[in-house]
Amino acid sequence: MDMIIRPRRLRNGSTLRKMVRETRMDKSSLIYPMFVREGENIREEIPTMPGQYRYSVDQMPYKLEELLKAGVDKVMFFGIPDHKDACGSGAYAQDGIVQKAFRKAKEEFPQMYLIGDVCMCEYTSHGHCGILRGEYVDNDKTLEYLAKIALSQVQAGADMVAPSDMMDGRIAAIRNMLDKNGCLETPIMSYAVKYASAFYGPFRDAAGSAPAFGDRKSYQMDYHNVREGVKEALLDMEEGADIIMVKPALSYLDVIARVKETIDLPVAAYGVSGEYALIKAGAALGYVDEDAIVCEMAASVYRAGTDIFLTYYAEKIAQFMDEGRIG
Ligand code: PBG
Repeated sequence: MDMIIRPRRLRNGSTLRKMVRETRMDKSSLIYPMFVREGENIREEIPTMPGQYRYSVDQMPYKLEELLKAGVDKVMFFGIPDHKDACGSGAYAQDGIVQKAFRKAKEEFPQMYLIGDVCMCEYTSHGHCGILRGEYVDNDKTLEYLAKIALSQVQAGADMVAPSDMMDGRIAAIRNMLDKNGCLETPIMSYAVKYASAFYGPFRDAAGSAPAFGDRKSYQMDYHNVREGVKEALLDMEEGADIIMVKPALSYLDVIARVKETIDLPVAAYGVSGEYALIKAGAALGYVDEDAIVCEMAASVYRAGTDIFLTYYAEKIAQFMDEGRIG
């Protein structure tokens, strides 16, 4: 057969395949999202996210140790308070749940990089991501609260804040507040391109943060759109965001690629609760091979262009990187 170009030549044996890999990734880009709750001696499994737990602050260190051992040294905290009210006051309370988690983690694990999700939906009685005016989330009023929440997290020990509320102007509001208070060096990772997604379902069970009425479509993005995502990312960059996040990840690989191409900032992608739950359920039924799926899914998110990956599978992915299965 007279054939000069044979693509299979480079697929012969794992040494060669690894040499010509187009996508490289390593553990330093992994962030593990973690739920912390009030109470003591609690480590309760989240029914819709098997293998994921809500930790009381005293139990949290065991998990942080495990993560560090696996080589994952970045976590993002979500607080689950005991009491909720209309203005989400637990989100910025000095002794709020997430503030307590930051203080303890900072003190006991100085080598861990701590990130705070800045939002109100876990803390409001109505479950929306801001302050209500009637049934509408009041954008500008909410900004004052988000700025307060971000500052309180940084003062408690957060190394970085990540606003996920999708209000307009929140990056500028948070940046101003942090700068006024001397936190010039604290980066903001913006959930800039966040879609209104059914993939957040299990998270809302985990955090008890489903909206009591309506939905989040007046602030989170319509999943038909990608240009709008670029616009959100550009706006946040102008307002001072340091990292741009796309969320969810797996159904939005095209969006990750577009943002990567157009925005000159590090890009993060969040493999959300529903993505995790689907793989877990499929694997439990014996329909798919969990480990193989996790490797393929992780590689695809990096291949699309993400620099940073937030995932409930962080530990497993770190292990697969160590084993050379991916990376
Ligand atoms: C808070 C927030 C949500 C998630 C991250 N931050 C829930 C939502 O917007 O409803 C989802 C994370 C996940 O599904 O894993 N607003």
